[in-house]
Amino acid sequence: QPELNGIVAVDGPSGTGKSTAARGLARALGAAYLDTGAMYRAVTLAVLRAGVALDDAAGLVRVAGEVRLVMRTDPDDPGVLLDGVDVHQEIREQEVTGAVSAVSAVPEIRELLVRRQRSLIDAATRPRGGIVVEGRDVGTVVAPDAGLKVYLTASADARAHRRTAQDVAEGRPADRERVHADVRRRDTLDSNRSVAPLRMADDAISLDTTDLSLEQVLLRLRELADGRGLLV
Ligand code: DC
Repeated sequence: QPELNGIVAVDGPSGTGKSTAARGLARALGAAYLDTGAMYRAVTLAVLRAGVALDDAAGLVRVAGEVRLVMRTDPDDPGVLLDGVDVHQEIREQEVTGAVSAVSAVPEIRELLVRRQRSLIDAATRPRGGIVVEGRDVGTVVAPDAGLKVYLTASADARAHRRTAQDVAEGRPADRERVHADVRRRDTLDSNRSVAPLRMADDAISLDTTDLSLEQVLLRLRELADGRGLLV
């Protein structure tokens, strides 16, 4: 069974199957897994709990600096601990989803989390080892030296459909229209913010997952990693 040695960056908008693919790849290749979006979501949850207004930039930065956030990078058990309590479920709730773009647009918060992301990546790969990191700016900002950068895309319809299915599977109320509107709104916000906007790295390989099954996506990612000499 080949193992990953190095960094695979998986970026792209929401609903492209990024999380499932990134985590599945990490599992298949004995690698660590980091969901950077979960870190922005966890800080957002802390902000909401602290009752800080989303337009209070100084307040947002303060909460981000004070929060005790622990990310577990085991793909079989990728926990997100906020002050010692696992919040992986809470961070997927609508309230957090609705507020996360505002929080992730604050430059100081991005700086803080990017630093944490880099040290988690270092811990997983030095002196050797592999990690699959997913997000929006992994290939462009967090790990520009990643051995493989993949940019996942999918039609807006397919993405809204996947997000809805994910809500149903995880027991949240499903509302296709709302999800559709939310996917479009977050794309606009994430693509147009001034710091680290969502964009494909020049050296990334784009993969349209609209008509691909998870197995097909995983197979393709493996082939790409193999082609880059990242499997040992
Ligand atoms: O992938 P996700 O839906 O869990 O991401 C949540 C939000 O966090 C998304 O709206 C954009 C933001 N994000 C970001 O700005 N940079 C990242 N590397 C990952 C996510």
